[in-house]
Amino acid sequence: QEAHAAQMERTFIAIKPDGVQRGLISEIVSRFERKGFKLVGIKIIVPPKDFAQRHYHDLKDRPFFNGLCNFLSSGPVLAMVWEGEGVIRYGRKLIGATDPQNSEPGTIRADLAVVVGRNIIHGSDGPETAKDEIKLWFKPEELVNYTSNAEKWIY
Ligand code: PPS
Repeated sequence: QEAHAAQMERTFIAIKPDGVQRGLISEIVSRFERKGFKLVGIKIIVPPKDFAQRHYHDLKDRPFFNGLCNFLSSGPVLAMVWEGEGVIRYGRKLIGATDPQNSEPGTIRADLAVVVGRNIIHGSDGPETAKDEIKLWFKPEELVNYTSNAEKWIY
């Protein structure tokens, strides 16, 4: 038997300032938790503007880049790392389409948000982004490795 199981997939999820201010932390965390994903990192921070620009660096040529960065740094953000089989792709499904006007009912953005500029949550869009964003937001020692009792009933 292997001494160490291969580490499961991880993704970066952030509740943006609008979600925090609206008191949606527990609602959102609960959806990931009940699904069976595992929380391995969490902290609340007000990201400085230059940090927000680094986070959204791929979007620097978009017209909304500056507004989006100002918004992210306008208040507390709940930064998290979630772990589980398929968590990057499925996390995006739980979140729903970028524009809440187009997201499917039952998703976080459809159920809890109205406009794209205030869509309450961010999730990494692929394995490379997940790796980069986790590294940007968390030090390795801020992430925990543990076995939850529920795991043998989830997998
Ligand atoms: S896009 O339009 O295809 O680039 O959309 P997407 O890649 O899903 O979005 C990337 C991030 O930009 C945000 N976004 C916007 N913010 C403000 N205004 C407008 N019009 C807008 N369009 C997209 C979107 O919410 C994504 O940020 P995160 O934090 O990942 O949600």
